[in-house]
Amino acid sequence: MAEPIRIVVTGAAGQIAYSLLYMIARGEVFGIDQPLILHLLDIPPMAGVLEGVVMELNDCALPLLREVIPTTDPNMGFKDVSAAFLVGAMPRKEGMERKDLLSANVKIFKVQGQALDKVAKKDVKVLVVGNPANTNAFVCANYAPSIPRENFSAMTRLDQNRATAQIALKLGVSVSNVSNIIIWGNHSSTQYPDADHGKFFIEETQKSVSRAINDESYLRGAFVETVQKRGASVIAARKMSSAMSAAKAACDHMHDWWNGTAPGQFVSMGVFSDGSYNSPKNVIFSFPVEINNKKWKIVEGLTLNDFAKSKLKLTGEELQEERNEALSVLDASASNL
Ligand code: NAD
Ligand code: LMR
Repeated sequence: MAEPIRIVVTGAAGQIAYSLLYMIARGEVFGIDQPLILHLLDIPPMAGVLEGVVMELNDCALPLLREVIPTTDPNMGFKDVSAAFLVGAMPRKEGMERKDLLSANVKIFKVQGQALDKVAKKDVKVLVVGNPANTNAFVCANYAPSIPRENFSAMTRLDQNRATAQIALKLGVSVSNVSNIIIWGNHSSTQYPDADHGKFFIEETQKSVSRAINDESYLRGAFVETVQKRGASVIAARKMSSAMSAAKAACDHMHDWWNGTAPGQFVSMGVFSDGSYNSPKNVIFSFPVEINNKKWKIVEGLTLNDFAKSKLKLTGEELQEERNEALSVLDASASNL
């Protein structure tokens, strides 16, 4: 068997982590032959809860789980980790936009970027789940200059899964038959869920999603809105933000980064923009990517119509505004020291 690898989950005493830790420890992300040492990072008031999570993980009697290390010290939490799930942050409540969390949460990602820079493996793969996820990932990467920027990503896989599920429902097929649904831009209500390049299989024949649905008003209207507002709908119903589906999406994102995507298929990830598709550079923007040998590459050459272009512009502008606000929050907190 392989040597164990170290994986950290932050916010390990919270809702998402409660589902996520079990999925990781079962081998659903790094494989059923890969032993794991799990680092559980949270803040000091949650130390007692963390102990309970450790007890439960041990009680699951999972063969791949070699050790569980609970900690409230980022330098211990990130020490020698190969992958980091950055979940720990305040969730939004009913009536808030995700960017309303910015001033509370970006400071967390500065500290964690600095700790990753100091003690994590240099090839660590970082997935930011805590909101506002794209801007937090941008901040984290900027405070970890010794780790390549392409190792930082933000989660839009939940949006992709939501969009894929809506399309599968509309077509009356299983989600496993639908692929290449794209999320562009920010993990916010300006994101653009795009089914124009989507494919599905029926009786072993590949077909185009948009041609089969053949209803522009649905694909530009109810479909886009349902996905954009799904996080808020879950909060309105549960009085808490999505957790089980967020944990599943985090596993899917890291699984594909670690293991690669199938030929001809792509997935959406928030990554540093190189200006592809006229997006603003130097923000974390969600693009369709293909992954090989643990390296993602933006899928180039897709045709965008004017509707899509206007949506990408809007979400790109929001990301630039968030980035500038985050930098001013961090500047202000630095000058208050
Ligand atoms: P939660 O409140 O249940 O848990 C958050 C945990 O993070 C708590 O245990 C808290 O103590 C911990 N925490 C706070 N500051 C920390 C720090 N500095 N270091 C380590 N841990 C810290 O929240 P949750 O439901 O698990 O959600 C976590 C975050 O994920 C929220 O910001 C939420 O909005 C976001 N989220 C993102 C997506 C996405 O698709 N990107 C989906 C769902 C939720
Ligand atoms: C989601 O999409 O469910 C999460 O980002 C939580 C939220 O605030 O919407």
